[in-house]
Amino acid sequence: MKALVLAGGKGTRLRPLTHTSAKQLVPIANKPVLYYGLEAIRDAGITEVGIIVGDTAREVREAVGDGSRFGLEVTYIPQEEPLGLAHCVLIAGDFLGDEPFVMYLGDNFLVNGIADLVDAYRRADYDAQILLTKVAEPQLYGVAELGPDGEIIGLEEKPKHPRSDLAIVGVYTFSPAIHDAVRAISPSPRGELEVTDAIRWLVDNGYRVHSHLVSGYWKDTGRLQDMLECNRIVLETIERDIKGTVDGLSDITGRVVIEPGAVVEHSVIRGPAVLGANTKIIGSYIGPYTSVGEGCVLEGAEVEYSIILGESSIIGVSGLTNSLIGRNVEVTRATGLPNMNQLMVGDHSKIQVRA
Ligand code: TTP
Repeated sequence: MKALVLAGGKGTRLRPLTHTSAKQLVPIANKPVLYYGLEAIRDAGITEVGIIVGDTAREVREAVGDGSRFGLEVTYIPQEEPLGLAHCVLIAGDFLGDEPFVMYLGDNFLVNGIADLVDAYRRADYDAQILLTKVAEPQLYGVAELGPDGEIIGLEEKPKHPRSDLAIVGVYTFSPAIHDAVRAISPSPRGELEVTDAIRWLVDNGYRVHSHLVSGYWKDTGRLQDMLECNRIVLETIERDIKGTVDGLSDITGRVVIEPGAVVEHSVIRGPAVLGANTKIIGSYIGPYTSVGEGCVLEGAEVEYSIILGESSIIGVSGLTNSLIGRNVEVTRATGLPNMNQLMVGDHSKIQVRA
């Protein structure tokens, strides 16, 4: 069995971060979300992995390399444009050959990995296995409608009027029959070859498509709130590990990871939280569910429930929560008159201030 990991795409929902970097490399507890997926694939006993890459190919290649670090053999498959999830299967045809495979969306996160799902697929004899989960806003996802015996009677991509609240989770298992399906379908009104259309083609043509309901252990990290929630879930599992330097005036409570070279002075850190290598935390409060990347400086700052990427600084600013702060960002206190906020913000950024 092989795996096909999708790490191209546009990432519009995570702009402006995705203007400059791949959304699959945004860190969860200071580790790129894509790494969790690759580790899950390895733990399911799969070693041959094709990774679909788009505009951010260079960055993804640099981060993953030949895959040996994960115990994987990685083949990169460039996609000239994000033409849809089924288009990814189409262009991966040579790599996949006639083996069954797992398709894994590179920005998805399954808390318990995928070994059980892959085992279930190996034991059974389906042409496709899809996972479904109840969601609050089904119109944002691929949605399945099930019949009285749990059989799939409808599949729609991001429907305006969803017929159920069952979203399709971003991990699928397919037999080679999917190759006929992706060749048979046409682009949707939004111009993409939709995997929901390919699966519906399998159903309509008498192939065995099995759906399996999972609960509460999946996140599509394509949106800010999901990313923060994912960060919370992973931080819940960390163990206290302090390798950096903490002075006697600081108070470190609970499960906190402080990476080598990090310095904490005169600060309160309440876990679960991770502080990246060579980060400086001075006179600051870091609250629960916060990940601070490497080389950051926080001075006179108060932050909780947030992700801060590497090399950023927050100086003299308190009350930050629910925030995703990119690389090399400066957040500082405005001084002097007028007594107002001063912003220099890139395109597609989102700022919420308590005026
Ligand atoms: P999506 O999140 O559905 O699409 P997107 O990346 O374009 O993001 P947004 O909706 O915010 O604009 O994609 C799911 C995963 O599949 C993600 O890791 C990107 C990847 N992908 C490809 O590799 N090629 C594609 O053609 C598409 C549509 C997505």
